[in-house]
Amino acid sequence: MIEPSLDQVRAKIMEFAPSDYPFVNDLAQYALTGRGQMLRPSLLLATSMLGGGPTPPAKAIQLAAMVECIHVASLLHDDVVDGGRFRRKLQTVNAKWGNKEAVLLGDFILAMAHEALSDYPDTRVLKSAHRITRTLAMGELVELQYATDVHLDEETYCRIISHKTASFFAECCYLGGWAANLDNADLERLATVGHSIGMAYQILDDLLDVTGSLAALGKDITHDILAGNITLPIIHSLSAAGKEEPRARLKKALETGDLEFIRENLSRLVMESGGYDYCIRRAESFTNKAADAIGALPKSCPRPVVSAIGQVTEYMFARLKAGGDGTRVRV
Ligand code: FPP
Ligand code: MG
Repeated sequence: MIEPSLDQVRAKIMEFAPSDYPFVNDLAQYALTGRGQMLRPSLLLATSMLGGGPTPPAKAIQLAAMVECIHVASLLHDDVVDGGRFRRKLQTVNAKWGNKEAVLLGDFILAMAHEALSDYPDTRVLKSAHRITRTLAMGELVELQYATDVHLDEETYCRIISHKTASFFAECCYLGGWAANLDNADLERLATVGHSIGMAYQILDDLLDVTGSLAALGKDITHDILAGNITLPIIHSLSAAGKEEPRARLKKALETGDLEFIRENLSRLVMESGGYDYCIRRAESFTNKAADAIGALPKSCPRPVVSAIGQVTEYMFARLKAGGDGTRVRV
């Protein structure tokens, strides 16, 4: 339903690169052309159809392009923070040009998006964009606070991923609903849908960081863990009752920073300790919550659109099975 609109979003994103400087334009083109999954703009476009139109309204195309720009800006910064070398099957800007270039390019793209969103007289739009940026940055800071902390608990982990991922998904659904002229109560329902989908997405993405492959994911695997991020599969593996041996070996490797051991054994240890199945169950509990909130949308919302939003969660589990390559997945 949204595929033609996604092409329009991609075209719009490319209109946002211009500056007077070819160097800046080249960098922006490079960062913005990498093919991501376009999940955030897709959610925005899909929810924008809940108002009943045959296609997403024009303002949803513009908003979807802007949220993708904010996402790209955040990834430019994230790859500096994590020292990421590959993103979307391309070398990262920090690896190809340098950290300074990546940070400043992220600032440039972020500011461009905020400038464009300030054209909307309804202040809810720009406020939403600012909430996205503030919450992302806060989540990343708290993640840094707990880097390499083997005592990180599941509740704190959930708070971190709520800030760094789920809140962004929530805002995309909120903005889509706004473009569909839904009332405030439905916008809140949509925010819950997006938040729950985002929680499940990040848990599965963290699982893919353990079990996926560079070829399928287009980014380094075990990278987050090597960068010190303690994620749910690890938290569970460290606490799994009655699984003394894998737990002790993993804890020791994390504490001593034995990267080689982690790289070679992480996937096996997570499987043996039941961490894989546990993450699936937790992700499912969030997708169930999303389904409940989707079910509470008004009867006037077009049913094919409502069920398409529900199918996003099927895509996420299918992507996990495909080792992380979303392009090989059709739902
Ligand atoms: C990827 O997480 C990163 C994020 C979800 C958010 C990054 C946000 C910032 C760096 C704050 C600055 C924000 C802006 C808008 C400039 P990950 O490292 O778990 O996933 P990965 O494996 O894809 O790197
Ligand atoms: Mg990262």
